[in-house]
Amino acid sequence: MLFTNTQYPNTRLRRLRSKEFIRNLVAENSLSINDLIYPMFVHDQNTDSQVIKSMPSVLRHNKNDLLKECERLCELKIPAIAIFPVVSQDLKDNNAKESYNPNGLMPTIIKEIKARFPELGIISDIALDPYTSHGQDGIIDEQGRILNDTTVDILKKQALCHAEAGVDIVAPSDMMDGRIGAIRKSLDEASFIDTNILAYAAKYASNYYGPFRDAVDSLKNLGNADKRTYQISYHNANQALHEVALDIQEGADMVMVKPGSSYLDIVYQVKQNFKLPTFVYQVSGEYSMLKLAAQNGLIDEQKAVLESLICMKRAGGDAILTYYAKDIASWLK
Ligand code: PBG
Repeated sequence: MLFTNTQYPNTRLRRLRSKEFIRNLVAENSLSINDLIYPMFVHDQNTDSQVIKSMPSVLRHNKNDLLKECERLCELKIPAIAIFPVVSQDLKDNNAKESYNPNGLMPTIIKEIKARFPELGIISDIALDPYTSHGQDGIIDEQGRILNDTTVDILKKQALCHAEAGVDIVAPSDMMDGRIGAIRKSLDEASFIDTNILAYAAKYASNYYGPFRDAVDSLKNLGNADKRTYQISYHNANQALHEVALDIQEGADMVMVKPGSSYLDIVYQVKQNFKLPTFVYQVSGEYSMLKLAAQNGLIDEQKAVLESLICMKRAGGDAILTYYAKDIASWLK
């Protein structure tokens, strides 16, 4: 048994906390710039970058501004970005055709970033919600049911389209069954054996995604509908482990738990059980809650944000997607 022979006053744990340098020496976990992935939004209009009301300090970039931002991220040595497209309404339909258009927004921007900043890792979201007229992640039938296998067929085309554009990591984020295996197979058949798959393996039907849906403009299309027939119920933990196991068997290189803060028990169990690279997504709602609390003087922004991320590391997270990545990189410098 651990700690059975330790006794006060021979043992005084406060000694280990008595000075800053000792606290630093015994720190069990830490956060580095190498742990950070910066999610970014890009729109397809010939207009300025736009503010997102529900996510203060986050922008919907136009392509040029996104490229300028990438330069700054390279200076800060942020390893990777995750790109989310905001496409105009007239390109959306029930079949999400635009999701695999080789001349669409995503392949175009992936090629431009790779040409100018080859060292910056690019993760692309593989899901149909930016491209469907109803805001769901899948194709729906007349009754409004989401069709799993029809959706997976389109996801394969989308992943291939991004791989052809040169993306480093595709990240299927919609929780359809069998998508990882199908995507792995189609990438392999096209000889994209080095394209990584980051599976959103344990993605919950969470109420913390609201600001993101505002950012990618899927909120009004989605209306009162929800995503509970594909994303995991937050009542469940074992089911998340089952999902992770399946995604690993199907060929995922890394797995993700999402959201972060309220789901650290899942992060811990996934890491303990599978020992695979385990990523955590500090989602839009988590970001905005921290941001608004800080703006109202309720918390110290820098300290609270670093605490939230180091706790994710302590739970077993390897890399963290966070809208705070750029701020954190400059704080850590
Ligand atoms: C959808 C997707 C979502 C997020 C990333 N990809 C939201 C959703 O499921 O509606 C959320 C990210 C965030 O809230 O920051 N494919």
